[in-house]
Amino acid sequence: MKLSMRTHTCGELRAGAIGHTVTLCGWVHRRRDHGGLIFIDLRDRWGLTQVVFNPESAAEAHRLAESLRSECVIAVTGTVGRRPAGTENRKLPTGEVELVAGSLTVLSRAQTTPFSIEGDDEVSEDLRLKYRYLDLRRPELQYALAVRHRIAMETRNYFDGEGFLEIETPILTKSTPEGARDYLVPSRTQPGSFFALPQSPQLMKQLLMVAGVERYVQICKCFRDEDLRADRQPEFTQIDIEMSFAGEDDIFDLVERLMARVFKTVLGVEIAIPFPRMTHADALGRFGSDKPDLRYGMELKNVTQLLTGSSFKTFASAIEAGGLVKGIAVPGSAGASRKELDDLTAFAVQQGARGLAWFKVRKDILESPIAKFFTPETLAALRAALGATEGDLILFVADAPKVVYAVLGSLRNRFGRTPGLVKDNTFHFSWVVDFPLVTYNKEEERFESEHHPFTAPKAEDIPLLETDPLSVRSSSYDLILNGCEIASGSVRIHDETLQHRIFKLLALKEEVIRERFGFFLEAFRYGAPPHAGLAIGLDRLVMLMTGRESIRDVISFPKTQKASCLMTGSPSPVSPEQLKELKIKLQ
Ligand code: AMO
Ligand code: AMP
Repeated sequence: MKLSMRTHTCGELRAGAIGHTVTLCGWVHRRRDHGGLIFIDLRDRWGLTQVVFNPESAAEAHRLAESLRSECVIAVTGTVGRRPAGTENRKLPTGEVELVAGSLTVLSRAQTTPFSIEGDDEVSEDLRLKYRYLDLRRPELQYALAVRHRIAMETRNYFDGEGFLEIETPILTKSTPEGARDYLVPSRTQPGSFFALPQSPQLMKQLLMVAGVERYVQICKCFRDEDLRADRQPEFTQIDIEMSFAGEDDIFDLVERLMARVFKTVLGVEIAIPFPRMTHADALGRFGSDKPDLRYGMELKNVTQLLTGSSFKTFASAIEAGGLVKGIAVPGSAGASRKELDDLTAFAVQQGARGLAWFKVRKDILESPIAKFFTPETLAALRAALGATEGDLILFVADAPKVVYAVLGSLRNRFGRTPGLVKDNTFHFSWVVDFPLVTYNKEEERFESEHHPFTAPKAEDIPLLETDPLSVRSSSYDLILNGCEIASGSVRIHDETLQHRIFKLLALKEEVIRERFGFFLEAFRYGAPPHAGLAIGLDRLVMLMTGRESIRDVISFPKTQKASCLMTGSPSPVSPEQLKELKIKLQ
């Protein structure tokens, strides 16, 4: 790296440089006055170096240094010295040396910052987001930006080696359905018409396959107007992939090797490949979630058979109504207090349950207010079915399958966050496959794609498309890492007739199909290769690789839960002239 205004970075100097004359530039991280001597920790992107100003040897620089505050930007020239014995800082890579200042230039003065950069005092996220450029000075965020860059570099190199072309696709385009609302951009040249920002490049990358590109990759922005959460932003980044003459297994292999390489080179972590595969039905049945966290056990066990005709009416009637009873055994939680159990029940109810049955596993008995409803044999069988041992807490939910999965899945994740249960830096990947092609939207009284409308149904299920759509499985797959969906994709339809049948199944009217997807369907008439693809949520991947809880922490300038940018104050009203030009009247 060639430097210009300085000779070294603040992370670079070691004992070998003692006696050399050097120039460092950076921010005043901390200043301490010590009876005559002034010490400054000087910070740049690469680290910290201690600078010492001595009133005797450098009177002018010392006088100027007295006026420095935190975050002033300075350049210091001086001699590298060994720190006096006993004052070395072993925690700092530069901790053996200090820069004895000869001259000081103040490049930019700093007001008192709205929060301290070096301290980790509680500061509201809103304030941090308003002054994001200051927040980004903190080492955790600098680290996240650097990791993000490394992942992107590795990704590009990897795909280049695999014969992929990175191709940009338009941002001003037509709606791409991915299940969210579109962000619209009004056209000035065609008043009343709008571009949609892409929810993903899905249609474009498929058209690139028709175009003969064969192997496409793009690190691209996607835009979705949807309810935001810790792992969702209105604009986010995908590593978007599409491949011709390829199926599910090719995509799995491609992505597994990418992950192994990225984890190895960026974190030094070995990832075992291939990743385990699990059907969607199994993921729900065993873990209560289509994105199971496999870092811990607590599998759901079905005890419906044991409880059919039970004298505990809650269970018996749920089963009679076509529901099931499943449970999880939480290791070492039999000591839960009344209050903790009430909180768990309230949590279960909040997730949709009608109640939560619990049993504390003691040496010989299961302890519970409802134990009296069961014979000792049934209690023993329940315990065995759960594989529970002394000290466990067993939790049962009786309800329709959907509710049972949702509630036990959430409880399982809640206990999964128990400190100490999961070791840091453990990464469990799995593929979830064979999703249902469609789900039923009760409010809109129509079927909806589980993935997106371009996903191919399993060939053997195609005859069921019109007769029993809910049982049609699709050739789609999600990649799960530590309970987070980090990628999603599918084998695509490449046949106009089948694509048309799917649009009809989704209750799209002929004119809507023609207007929205006519150009796309037409492309399939001119020779379309079979193709498959996937998109990785880059923000989520970086979040997990840096151990953060929110993707906001790994995005340079993220938006709030309300989809606004506190720093720039966007979105914001526009001038009447701009509206006039666009022929838009506000209500
Ligand atoms: P999907 O909609 O599942 O698939 O998106 C792929 C991956 O992108 C990430 N992701 C998000 N990350 C942050 N904020 C969001 N709002 C957000 N939405 C999605 C997730 C997700 O797994 N075109 C298809 C892919 C394909 O079929 O090839 C698509 O976009 O990690
Ligand atoms: P009840 O018979 O309603 O007094 O409930 C007795 C116990 O069973 C309480 O601990 C409830 O929380 C629990 N319970 C109620 N409904 C369910 C259900 N659908 N599944 C599991 N436990 C339940």
